[in-house]
Amino acid sequence: MVESMALDYSASTQLVDMFRRHLELCKVHAGEHILIHTDPGSYPHYAAAYMGAAIELGADVFQIVHPNREEKAVIDAWKRADLVIDVSSGPHAYGHIMRESMDSGTRLQRIGVAVNTMRRLFPTQELRERVLAGQELMKNAKTMRITSPGGTDLTFYKEGRDPMGIYSVSDVPGRWDIWPSGMVCCAPEEHKGGGVLVLSPGDYMLVINQYVNDYIYLEMNDGRITDIKGGMQAELLKRWFAQFNSEDSYRIAHVGWGCERRANWLIPGQDNECMYANMQIAFGSNIGIFKGATTLTNSHIDFPSLNNSYWVDDIHIMENGEFLLDELRHKGDVGITTETGGTQTGHGSRPG
Ligand SMILES: [Fe+2]
Repeated sequence: MVESMALDYSASTQLVDMFRRHLELCKVHAGEHILIHTDPGSYPHYAAAYMGAAIELGADVFQIVHPNREEKAVIDAWKRADLVIDVSSGPHAYGHIMRESMDSGTRLQRIGVAVNTMRRLFPTQELRERVLAGQELMKNAKTMRITSPGGTDLTFYKEGRDPMGIYSVSDVPGRWDIWPSGMVCCAPEEHKGGGVLVLSPGDYMLVINQYVNDYIYLEMNDGRITDIKGGMQAELLKRWFAQFNSEDSYRIAHVGWGCERRANWLIPGQDNECMYANMQIAFGSNIGIFKGATTLTNSHIDFPSLNNSYWVDDIHIMENGEFLLDELRHKGDVGITTETGGTQTGHGSRPG
C-alpha cells in the first residue's frame, strides 16, 4: 500500500542511487528495454528515479501511464520489455498480464511501499540464499501441514505446483518479485485440502488492515473456507468475503512462510507478510504470479500469522514460529555484491 506524501521537484534525485543499485541487482545492463508501468496514482518520484537510474546504466527506458492494467496493448508492451518496473498504485500481482509476461521471459519487479521501508529492507544476498533454500525444500513436496497453539490444523496438496521464492529482486527471465519482501510460498491445489485455520490475537489481516484481537475460526473443506466463527472481527470478515459474491473468494490462493529478519511486525503491511518465520496464508485470486494456479476472482486477502508449526511432507521445518533447519535460519547481516562489484550493507542505509 502506498502512502500519501508531500513532494517537491527534487524528491526523485534522492532515490536514483538506491534504485540504480537495485537495478544492478536485477541484472539490468546497457541496451536492455526497461518499461516503467505507472497509473495516475503512482508515486511520480519513483518513476522518475527509476528512469534516471536506468539511463545511468545505459538501458533503453520508457514509461507508460495506464489506468487499466489488462488491455492488450499494455500486455504486449510488458511482453516486449526485458524488465518491467511496476510502480502502479494498487495491488498488482494477479491477472493474465503477469502470467503472459512471465511466460514470455520478461522480468517483473513490483514496487509499492514507502521509501523508508524499501531503504530498511534493501535486498541482501543472505536473504536470497535462505529464500532459495526454502524454495528448494518446498519444491518436490506433495503436502504441507500447518498447526498452531490456537488450534490451526491445515493440510494442503501441491503436487505439480512450483513454489516461489521472493527476495525483492527480479534477476532471472520470467521472474516476478516485489521489493521489499522475503517469502517462500506456493499456490496449492485449489480444490483440495483444508481443516481449521485459527487466527489468533496479534495475527494480521491484510486488506482489512487490522490486527486480530480475538480468535477467529475459519473452517476449510475442499480448498474453500466454508464457515467463519468468532466475535466482531469474524463478522467483519464474513461481510468482507460476502461482498464479492464469489465462491472463489473463499478459495486457498497461496501459503508459505516469511524470511525477512529485519521486518517489524508492528509496521502493518509488507512487513507482516515477509516477517521472519511467520506463516502467511491467502485466499482468492492466484492466477498470475503462481504458475499453474487456477483462480481468478475480484478479491485477494492475506493473513500473516505468528507461532505456527509447519511441515513440508514429513520434514518439520518450523515449530511455534521458530525455524528448525539451519538453511532457513538467519545467518547474520551479510553484504550483497552488485554486478558492478560494489558491496553494500543489507540495511540499505544510503539516503533514499
Ligand atoms: Fe497474497
